[in-house]
Amino acid sequence: MLKNFWYAVEFSAAVTSAPQPVKLMGENYVLYRGHHGQVVAMADRCIHRGAALSGGWVEGDCLRCPYHGWRYEADGTCVQIPADQAGTPIPKRARVDTFPVEEHYGMVWMFVGDLPAEQRPPIPSLPEYGDPKWRVITGEYTWNAHYTRVVESGLDTAHAPFVHSVFFNLRDEAEVPPYEVQVDDWSARARTLSKPPKRAGLLKLIVKRDRPFSSATLTAHLPNINRIHLDFNFRGYQYIYFASNIPVDENTTLTKWIGLRNFLPQAWADWNSRKNTNDTYREDKAVIESQVPRVVPLTGEILLASDSLQLAYRKLIRQCVERGWAVGNDYGMPINLDSANGNGKAPVGVTVS
Ligand code: FES
Ligand SMILES: [Fe+2]
Repeated sequence: MLKNFWYAVEFSAAVTSAPQPVKLMGENYVLYRGHHGQVVAMADRCIHRGAALSGGWVEGDCLRCPYHGWRYEADGTCVQIPADQAGTPIPKRARVDTFPVEEHYGMVWMFVGDLPAEQRPPIPSLPEYGDPKWRVITGEYTWNAHYTRVVESGLDTAHAPFVHSVFFNLRDEAEVPPYEVQVDDWSARARTLSKPPKRAGLLKLIVKRDRPFSSATLTAHLPNINRIHLDFNFRGYQYIYFASNIPVDENTTLTKWIGLRNFLPQAWADWNSRKNTNDTYREDKAVIESQVPRVVPLTGEILLASDSLQLAYRKLIRQCVERGWAVGNDYGMPINLDSANGNGKAPVGVTVS
């Protein structure tokens, strides 16, 4: 995975005073909410003898290890060792790594990396969240795939007639009209036009039969966020899908997604919105999980005009790899907790061109 980014690792509502384990590229972290409501993110490994702190409990703003009861402050400092005689000083090394945390759009964002605050890439914006015109639903889905393959599927218009033929146009109408890719430092985006999707589910209620086209603005925010903004080209009706594809490990991605719609704001319509997303995931699953190499390669596949957006995403990843931001076994170095906050070394074994 890439370090030096904010990762949306959990929904805010799931983070309480009960410690919640989180895994990012094989490394374990623990989240909890202190008594003022602030979220704390720590390495989920007690510095004493390695027990998972997520098995412990919260006391005020502190986290208590379940094994021998060492008590850690929110900044990771151990402040109590119950087995020590009274008055024994606590070793300076008795502390665990903590990680910056912010909450936006009902999600907890954790920063993994070594950049000072002012140099960190921004958290992507989602201005529609919190706007009363937009109805919000959420969900999650697990893939046996690397997150880069999952992100790319959300940038890909050419697969829709094949993988999602229930919803989209016929396979003999699979041509992808040329589209323009816009790239900035941390994202790549394109507005694509297609024949309108079939009037299935809620679309039967909200769109007319004779629309000439519908559009989708597809965005990849580095490293693992998809935003898909559908415009049904009818009465301004739109649907936005915003997904954090969490890199659990090299072969597992946990997608936590937010869906926003500005039509049918009633709760009864949520079920169909959620079903559409889950059905789409199920259709995508077989092909995405079959892809080799598991990690999106930086050279070697045959990318065509219809793959321009994926190419832009790969170029952005490559720039990060060249900066030395790759950690883990995909593009970078094996990660361990001691270096999770400070591995600035260049990766090895990566071909970039
Ligand atoms: S392993 Fe945590 S207190 Fe001993
Ligand atoms: Fe798909």
